[in-house]
Amino acid sequence: MALDLHDYVASYENFPEPGVLFRDISPLMEDGKAYHQATDEIVKYAKEKKVDLIVGPEARGFIVGCPVAYDLGIGFVPARKKGKLPGETVEASYGLEYGKSSLYLHADAVKPGQRVLITDDLLATGGTIEATIKLVEQLGGIVVGTAFIIEIEALKGREKIKDYDILSLLKY
Ligand code: PRP
Repeated sequence: MALDLHDYVASYENFPEPGVLFRDISPLMEDGKAYHQATDEIVKYAKEKKVDLIVGPEARGFIVGCPVAYDLGIGFVPARKKGKLPGETVEASYGLEYGKSSLYLHADAVKPGQRVLITDDLLATGGTIEATIKLVEQLGGIVVGTAFIIEIEALKGREKIKDYDILSLLKY
């Protein structure tokens, strides 16, 4: 029987700032069956999209994307925050629900023409996914899909990436 993954999301009021309701996938990751089920749903989507590389933004995009890449036997590329990547990089900046930041990819991490799926735990304002899409496209990758455990519909992130296909397992 499939689990209801809503049961594996924790909600915290006023974190990390007053007025923000933080949706946390920690319980989902801590439960082997729930983590497996969420991963399997994204693997199925990745197969439909004929993905040949996964890219995930720091830090929770790694948690969602790495098991998918492992299952498919394909590579995973981390989009990292400032000062983390040792080689030549490309950069994209973005505004968050709370604050501003930049993400970076190694300049040789995505090969032109590769079919890329971007994974993250959560779609909120869409700033993070939009920046990650820009990075992949700067390197010539084709973003064939985006996959999230959670979508916060009121923050309208979907509108920022309306030209791209979106899988969100849970909507709030
Ligand atoms: C959170 C979350 C997503 C992003 C979603 O990450 O994990 O990556 O915000 O928000 P957005 O759609 O408004 O851009 P955060 O920047 O807190 O980084 P972390 O995973 O390293 O904590």
